[in-house]
Amino acid sequence: MDLHFTEEQQMMRTMVRDFAKSEIEPFIPRMEAGEFPREVLTKMGELGLMGITVPEKYGGSDMDFISYIIAIHELSKVSAVIGVILSVHTSVGTNPIMYFGNEEQKNRYLPKMASGEYLGAFCLTEPGAGSDAGSLKTKAVKKDDHYVLNGSKVFITNGGEADVYIVFASTDSSKGTYGISAFIVDKNTPGLIIGKDEEKMGLHGSRTVQLTFEDMKVPADNLLGEEGEGFKIAMANLDVGRIGIAAQALGIGEAALEAAAGYAKERVQFGKPIAANQGVGFKIADMATASEAARLLVYRAAQLRAEGKTCGKEASMAKLFASQTAVDNAIEAVQVFGGYGYTEDYPVERYFRDAKVTQIYEGTSEIQRIVISKHLTK
Ligand code: CAA
Repeated sequence: MDLHFTEEQQMMRTMVRDFAKSEIEPFIPRMEAGEFPREVLTKMGELGLMGITVPEKYGGSDMDFISYIIAIHELSKVSAVIGVILSVHTSVGTNPIMYFGNEEQKNRYLPKMASGEYLGAFCLTEPGAGSDAGSLKTKAVKKDDHYVLNGSKVFITNGGEADVYIVFASTDSSKGTYGISAFIVDKNTPGLIIGKDEEKMGLHGSRTVQLTFEDMKVPADNLLGEEGEGFKIAMANLDVGRIGIAAQALGIGEAALEAAAGYAKERVQFGKPIAANQGVGFKIADMATASEAARLLVYRAAQLRAEGKTCGKEASMAKLFASQTAVDNAIEAVQVFGGYGYTEDYPVERYFRDAKVTQIYEGTSEIQRIVISKHLTK
């Protein structure tokens, strides 16, 4: 597979690397203390990073999907928090409107989402509907020129900070997944109640909230696609979203590898750098091999997507493997650092805490296996 980036893609990589070093790295202590990186996102908007694949006519950067994946990958090497905020904003916040919205909806939302003025969120998961997303209970009842939504959602990334919420609700419970519809909900809609912000193991600084809809009136104009198309919209956007999370995991795994290799060359014990011991050298070799395999899977899925081909199976494979690599590399990096790895003086304990969720959100590793096996056996 050809992994030679075009000049435009290389420029994106250089720009994002420079930005991450100068603007994100210094912000990490503030995110670790719980601050949402609004300032960073504003600057990302100015650089065109909040609408990388949005067409120019809607105010976006009009770049290809591989450039978007390069951005998530490189940003996540420095901060997995920025990686997930951008991935959710783009893949499952903006893209549903871009691909399923009508012209009026696109004109209303895309320019502001592409500039970073509006942040996006995706509201599928409920207390009783996680992996079994199709069993959601939130109801939308049509009345005159609007729908009335009642229900609740959990684990909503960007929730509370977001301005635009893609909400999935049942408009006809007798039809199962074919009775689910998607709505674009503005933050200030009466009846949208932002609940608890979860205290998480990692990804400090990102928001993960509960949402409740209490007789929330959503204009009928905000129905995304047709009634009953919601589950398809969710699944289609998750197919693509999973490549973004895979790229985030790839970034975390590579950061852990680079930190471990760097430390192993410098740390001297028994009169030589610890890298000279095979017990450490072999760890580095395994981490590098897994990272390389993850990189190929991620960019292979991204290339298929960029060419407009179906990529659901490849996206799930990339996420399954890259997330396992992120976790394995982070664990091994802490081990290479020894006692120092367990302190907050080095970033590897953060990689360790941030890596785990990549095996959980946007479909657990078990769900990725279901998706892959369904593709191979249907
Ligand atoms: N693309 C388009 N349509 C699709 C699709 C896809 N990839 N997959 C399914 N569909 C549609 C089809 O129309 C299908 O009907 P047909 O069989 O007639 O084709 C219909 O949906 C129902 O499909 P299934 O019978 O396969 O549905 P299911 O109920 O068995 O569920 C599942 C399938 C893959 C397990 C799905 O429920 C799933 O992906 N679960 C995981 C949920 C998830 O990823 N949640 C993430 C939340 S968002 C998040 O995490 C963001 C964040 O914070 C970072």
